[in-house]
Amino acid sequence: MPRSLPVMEQRKFGETLRRDTWWIPNVIVVSILSSFLVYATWAAFQNANYTFGPYLSPLYSPELLGASPHAWFGPMPSWWPSFIPFSPALFILPVPALFRFTCYYYRGAYYKAFWADPPACAVGEPRKSYLGENSFPLIMQNVHRYGLLLSFILLVFLWHDVYLALWFVEADGTTRFGIGVGTIVMFVNVILLSGYTIGCHSMRHVVGGMLDRLSKSPIRKLAYDCSTVCNRGHMNWAWCSLFSVALTDVYIRLCASGVIRDLRIL
Ligand code: FES
Repeated sequence: MPRSLPVMEQRKFGETLRRDTWWIPNVIVVSILSSFLVYATWAAFQNANYTFGPYLSPLYSPELLGASPHAWFGPMPSWWPSFIPFSPALFILPVPALFRFTCYYYRGAYYKAFWADPPACAVGEPRKSYLGENSFPLIMQNVHRYGLLLSFILLVFLWHDVYLALWFVEADGTTRFGIGVGTIVMFVNVILLSGYTIGCHSMRHVVGGMLDRLSKSPIRKLAYDCSTVCNRGHMNWAWCSLFSVALTDVYIRLCASGVIRDLRIL
């Protein structure tokens, strides 16, 4: 007769046999994501100091409507209701916010850090049932692929911004090719954002999925391999690009407000 195994009691919240500092990653995730959210919200509502010469903050790009020369469709329309705050960033930020919020890596990180679901492997959680992501509201995480599509479009604009950041209007009114520290800051930022976007799990599916034999389609195979290379370090791309977006905004904001001077290298 088969021997029955003892049924394990579900651990209480936070209960664990682990002796390592499993909670440290959660503290780091909460600190960084909360700080970024606070900073990005503050910066988005400023509607000022987001451009400096040819530079445009990634939090405001593309500037669809706005007061700077970077605006694609001119200034804020006169009919804009005065009780609704206006800022070009408010049109744009929902896209990267959606993309990051639904990212498979970030989900793993913030489910643990913010929702303790569970706090870490082999650590007791506050809930008794697992509902997964197959019912509302978490089923909405499936919109990630659309976030990818929209973010990819934004990425094209960010590369365009880097190109524009190579052209400076001189004191005599002529436009000349040049490279400033801000150009390099923007370039590094767009490289990191590209690595993050290309390595997205959904991107691998878009370029390599729904094929019986990927090797028969050399271009898609190449795209799939590129995506896979970036995907291996997706966590690092995610954090580095988050930092770079904030730091690029800070740099342009400090230049625009006269706190620091942008150095021209070329
Ligand atoms: Fe992280 Fe798509 S899985 S961006």
